Amino acid sequence: MRAYTSYKDIVKLLNKVNSIGLVPTMGSLHDGHLSLIKRASIENEKVIISIYVNPKQFNNTSELKKYPRDIKNDLKMLKTFNNIIIYAPNDSDVYEKGEIIKKYEFGQILKIMEGKQRPGHFDGVATIIEKLLKMFKPNNAYFGEKDFQQILLVKILVKELKLDLNVISCQTIRESDGLAMSSRNKFLNKYERKSASQLIILLTKAKKMYNTSSSEAIRDIIFKDAMSIDNFQLEYFEILNISNLLNFFEYKNEIRAFIACKIGNTRLIDNIRI
Ligand code: PAF
Repeated sequence: MRAYTSYKDIVKLLNKVNSIGLVPTMGSLHDGHLSLIKRASIENEKVIISIYVNPKQFNNTSELKKYPRDIKNDLKMLKTFNNIIIYAPNDSDVYEKGEIIKKYEFGQILKIMEGKQRPGHFDGVATIIEKLLKMFKPNNAYFGEKDFQQILLVKILVKELKLDLNVISCQTIRESDGLAMSSRNKFLNKYERKSASQLIILLTKAKKMYNTSSSEAIRDIIFKDAMSIDNFQLEYFEILNISNLLNFFEYKNEIRAFIACKIGNTRLIDNIRI
């Protein structure tokens, strides 16, 4: 299977295609990605899968260096799909030399949680997504709900740029013990992996308490519980009514619990709907 490094070569293949799906990834594919790709390949005539570790969304060079990369295995995992095109560019196909990324002003929703903890991260994500959307002009773009704040960013971006496409959010795929699939999970040793399985337990506890306790009381309990988990450093826990932050009809009355933690040296995030 061929991976194209030049977007211009791909654009030539899209001439007479009726519907184009886009699944942006940073590679190191797992079943979570495969579920997006399966859905996209059913819903579109052709699907572009980008595999690119976008340097502009890392606010820390050591994180960028250690981000897992395994293109050989990625291609192996994609072998069974017959309507996909893989875009695995070098930096020079995406960015001009010395290109300075844009600063996006997307309001409060991007200043909290990941936006607060990782300054510049969402500018980097918006930059690469804007580029991919403009390169390939997809009808549908697919994103996983583990990165829920990222989906909100993409929806705002598409609205602001007045692009004509559907941003499709897909359910988080979990391991059998509930840990959300993530390329970073492979960094966890067996003790850390056990601690990581507590993320979903904390979120589920918060969900159960929601009808009878205030968000502040839940937060206190979650922070207390987190302290007793080995190697577990809770970064944030939030319960948010999405419609208070973003006036999109589809999020009317949608309440979610969000969590981020560091387990050893590995940072993990997750969220569930309440
Ligand atoms: O979620 C990711 O893997 C990345 O943020 C994305 C959307 C591929 C942009 O680089």
